[in-house]
Amino acid sequence: MRHALLTALFAGCGVAPAEGFDAELSPVVRAPEPVQPMQPVEPLPVEPAPTGLPCDVHAALQAACAGCHVGATRIPPFSTRDDLVSLGAKVGQRLSSTTAPMPPPGAFRPLTSGERALIDAWVSSGMPAGRCGALR
Ligand code: HEC
Repeated sequence: MRHALLTALFAGCGVAPAEGFDAELSPVVRAPEPVQPMQPVEPLPVEPAPTGLPCDVHAALQAACAGCHVGATRIPPFSTRDDLVSLGAKVGQRLSSTTAPMPPPGAFRPLTSGERALIDAWVSSGMPAGRCGALR
């Protein structure tokens, strides 16, 4: 019945339905959505990650400390800012220690004087959080 009706309809306007045309399966054609004009995008606020380290401090610790301290079992392990906060003043003390400095003499990578000054400043300003995550 429906098919006959459609055929009649198409015949009426002089267009024959294409071979295999199936009114039930043919997709519904919609008018495209009206395009919205672009809105200015507010930048997302960048919140420091609670356990994040400032990226420059992260880079220095990653280069000169991570190799021994990340995942360590016999020496105090540290990888997050929280770990360093709980070591507290020891971090700064060992950086400038003359008897037991960190990294120890002969370690794979000494700190440059710039890196030492950077970490010292970070420790003495209370180890503020930054956007770079844990050491690996
Ligand atoms: C070559 C391996 C090695 C490297 C590199 C190294 N450490 Fe250590 N660290 C040790 C060992 C071993 C100990 C434990 C023995 C000791 O206290 O001297 C230690 C102990 C410490 C302690 C003392 C913790 C406590 O409870 O007293 C701190 C703080 C520390 N390291 C910080 C650092 C920092 C910061 C760096 C990078 C600037 C670093 N270490 C690089 C091997 C290393």
